[in-house]
Amino acid sequence: MTATHGRQVWNAGDYDANARFVSDLAGAVIEWLAPQAGERILDLGCGDGALTEQLVSAGCDVVGVDSSQNFVTACKERGLDARLMDGQALEFEGEFDAVFSNAALHWMTDPEAVIGGARRALKPGGRFVAEFGGHGNVAAIVTAMRAVALSRGADPASAYRWYFPTPAEYGGLLSAAGFDVARIDLYPRPTPLKTGIEAWLKLFSLPFFEQFGEECDVAVKQTAELLAPSLRDDSGNWTADYVRLRVEARLA
Ligand code: BEZ
Repeated sequence: MTATHGRQVWNAGDYDANARFVSDLAGAVIEWLAPQAGERILDLGCGDGALTEQLVSAGCDVVGVDSSQNFVTACKERGLDARLMDGQALEFEGEFDAVFSNAALHWMTDPEAVIGGARRALKPGGRFVAEFGGHGNVAAIVTAMRAVALSRGADPASAYRWYFPTPAEYGGLLSAAGFDVARIDLYPRPTPLKTGIEAWLKLFSLPFFEQFGEECDVAVKQTAELLAPSLRDDSGNWTADYVRLRVEARLA
C-alpha cells in the first residue's frame, strides 16, 4: 500500500484489478447520454478513460478531465485528450454539447461548483448527464466504518468523505443553476465485488484506515467482519450496497 497522507490516491493498476465494474456497469447512463457522432463531450471525472474511449469510438470529440495525475496519464496512454483539472473548478466556456460523468461526482463535495462549471462549459441547449452515488449509497459500509472508528477512539465523521444527495436535493441545485431537469432517478444497484470487500475498502477508503497506523490492516479486517453478515453470501461472495443517482438535465 502507498501512504496517502489523508488524501484519496488513485493507482490505475489497482483500479483496473479491483474496480473495472465501475465502467462495465455504465451502460444505462451512456444510454441516457445517447452520444451522437461529431458531438463535443466533456467527460467529467474520466478516471482511467475506459468510458472516454468508448465515447471516442462512437465518433465523439471528447475531452476527459480528472484531478488525479495517475488517471490522466493512464488516459494519455490510451491516446485520449485528458487534462488534469479539478471538477469543482472547470475551465471551459460554452464549448460542449454535453457534460457527462460516471461514478465521479460523489467525490466532489462542492456540488454547486461542479454544476456551475458544467453550465459554463456547455453550449446553449447542451445537456448534463451523470450517474453517481445517491442518498443511502454504501450505507452499511459507512456504518461499519463509523463503528470501527468509535471502537478505536477516532472521529466517526472520518468514515464519510463523499456526497450522496437525494434526487430532490440534486434536482433543486440543477434548477437553481438554470437547468431543466428532464429526468432524475435514485435506484439500488447491489454491486458484486469480485475481489472482495477488503480490496474495496483499501482502494476507496485507505485514508480512513491509515489513521490507525500499524493497526490499518486490522481495522480493515474488523470492518469486513462487521459487514460479512450483511454483504457476504454463503459462498463467500461480496456485494456492495450501491445506490445510484442518475440525471439528465438541459440548458434552455
Ligand atoms: C461509488 O461508486 O458509489 C463509491 C465508490 C467508492 C466510494 C464510495 C462510493
